[in-house]
Amino acid sequence: MDFTEVLQTRRSIRKYLETPIKDEVIKRILHAAQLSPTWAHKQGQRVIVVRDPAVCNQLKDTIGQKWTETVPNFLVVCIEPEQSGIAPNKMEYYPVDAAIVMQSMILAATNEGLGTCWIGWFDEPEVRRVLSIPESYRVIGITPLGYPASQPQPKERKKIEDICFDNAFGNRFPV
Ligand SMILES: Cc1cc2nc3c(=O)[nH]c(=O)nc-3n(C[C@H](O)[C@H](O)[C@H](O)COP(=O)(O)O)c2cc1C
Repeated sequence: MDFTEVLQTRRSIRKYLETPIKDEVIKRILHAAQLSPTWAHKQGQRVIVVRDPAVCNQLKDTIGQKWTETVPNFLVVCIEPEQSGIAPNKMEYYPVDAAIVMQSMILAATNEGLGTCWIGWFDEPEVRRVLSIPESYRVIGITPLGYPASQPQPKERKKIEDICFDNAFGNRFPV
């Protein structure tokens, strides 16, 4: 796919097939996580590929969102704030780093014909417990990874001129 097609094809997939994913495909998606930029090049991102059906089921129970029942695998992104982006008196960059990793993997997965869906609503201590993630790590995002059972219609978006400005906030960008 070309890049525009990747952007236009991606959408949140909440129904999955059981079709297994080849290891080389998963590796290409993890490569996207490796190539992601991080604040001060800290590379604090950690990605857990959850493929064991028993662990997958435990994670589903923890997430508690009914639609996840057909999910065959998950990617879980966590990061340690102390070893990542906390600039003194500035922004905390570690969630930004982790979100970029999520988006990179999500787009790489789309390019492979795979479905994903950001999951940001979960019981973080429980996810840590299920996946043996150390307490010093924050779990920032989870996504299913699997072949979509259907391709939902794209959601309506705000217009570019409603969200993007020309030189200063509020100046209409000519599109
Ligand atoms: C940070 C973040 C957290 C999200 N958390 C959830 C979630 O917990 N459960 C869910 O079903 N979708 C979740 N979503 C998916 C959004 O609902 C979805 O991206 C949005 O409705 C746009 O739809 P689209 O992704 O198909 O374009 C989340 C998205 C983002 C960016």
